[in-house]
Amino acid sequence: MAVIADRCPQIRVTVVDLNAARIAAWNDADLSRLPVYEPGLDAVVGRCRGRNLFFSTAVEEAIAGADMVFLSVNTPTKTKGLGAGQASDLRWIEASARQVAACAQGHTIVVEKSTLPVRTAETVKAILGAVPAAPDGGNGKTFSVLSNPEFLAEGSAIGDLEQPDRVLIGGEDPAAIEALAGIYGNWVPADKILRTNLWSSELSKLTANAFLAQRISSINSIAAFCEATGADVQEVARAIGSDSRIGPKFLQAGPGFGGSCFQKDILNLVYLCGHYGLHEVAAYWQSVVELNTWQQHRIARLVVNRLFGTVTGKRIALLGFAFKADTNDTREAPAIRIAKDLLEEGAQIAIYDPKVSAQQMQSDLGCAPAPSDQRAVDLSGEGSWLACGSVAEAVRGADAAVILTEWQEYRQLNWQELAAVMRQPAWLFDARAIADAEAVRRAGLRLWRVGDGQQG
Ligand code: UGA
Repeated sequence: MAVIADRCPQIRVTVVDLNAARIAAWNDADLSRLPVYEPGLDAVVGRCRGRNLFFSTAVEEAIAGADMVFLSVNTPTKTKGLGAGQASDLRWIEASARQVAACAQGHTIVVEKSTLPVRTAETVKAILGAVPAAPDGGNGKTFSVLSNPEFLAEGSAIGDLEQPDRVLIGGEDPAAIEALAGIYGNWVPADKILRTNLWSSELSKLTANAFLAQRISSINSIAAFCEATGADVQEVARAIGSDSRIGPKFLQAGPGFGGSCFQKDILNLVYLCGHYGLHEVAAYWQSVVELNTWQQHRIARLVVNRLFGTVTGKRIALLGFAFKADTNDTREAPAIRIAKDLLEEGAQIAIYDPKVSAQQMQSDLGCAPAPSDQRAVDLSGEGSWLACGSVAEAVRGADAAVILTEWQEYRQLNWQELAAVMRQPAWLFDARAIADAEAVRRAGLRLWRVGDGQQG
């Protein structure tokens, strides 16, 4: 929304939320304290806020005054009831559609921005169409529903929005489609604005994420095979990625995909396929998620195995907790599952991530940090963790460092200095394959690098 405001000064954009604390944070005079860390977002908000971009809790008023309403609410995986663990929880979409139905005036274009199961627009249309008539027999309200899924990735969101590969608009009402296309037309070339029917648009979003995630599971499966056979997944990825039909992107082996979308969207796809009786299709996509989970457990297991079969009482530095670099987002981060496995094994984990707070780590790990950084070897079998302020602090006294997020600063570490403060024999487990392998070896560290059959 901020980028729309930035690119279209003639349009007034009001972002509304019932959560007053969140809106207050979006209105914070200090742009470094916006609730989402996203490179470049502070500058965009700084340029538009108060000009044609407003953050407000006055939801009803904003809907009443709007020609177009974007529904951008959470659609997490259901945790209970029908479809628990797979289906999307649509309660917030339904609630916001009801609120739009109640408050809108005149003709309103309602745009599904959230990632939604295919055919959700049917529900939205039914809710909007069920507005009771006013006493005079009519209510003057009409609606057009569009699907306009978002393809931005965290960390590169501003660039993705400013120069999208494509903008997708699905709908039934040509005038509404053109009204939305006209907004994007302010900065997106016409040939990149795709128009489809509603259901294709909704399904394309789930499919795009499923395909991207599938590439990661595919390359991670090959990474394990490379390790078993002496091949190197970096070389394999380069070799296959130079086939223009395959292409080089999303072939980076690692600790598995995280983030709020891939797993959620695939599970939703699995659920929908099951609903339509396509059980083999459901099983196919389910295996993408299973491979991802397996990769994370595999990494934790191999850390334990390399450290003589036990990590009880051993200090292990985890470098990175965010699900990828350039974000403070930890949703479904591989670090969570790997850290929990190591805690279960009795390890003392020292975590350093340049952007993730200790409170966030605590909430993700579900247990409080160690009261102090005692560094005494604890053979009680109880795992513990603490957050550190730097790589050097995390690796001090550690038997191993594990790189889990591809932060730029981890690419240029001085392994000579770091190895000197670790307990020998010490390991580097490079789950992102970003460290300088030569430098690591020269520093006397043992090295495991994801997908490299020549290492470790
Ligand atoms: C993803 C999609 O890339 C966006 O197009 C989509 O709009 C978004 O989900 C969404 O549905 O909201 P995002 O989750 O921000 O974006 O992050 P990605 O860059 O796609 O990375 C996802 C995960 O895959 C990360 O954990 C990343 O480390 C991992 N990954 C990515 C790899 O392990 N290897 C790769 O080669 C690429």
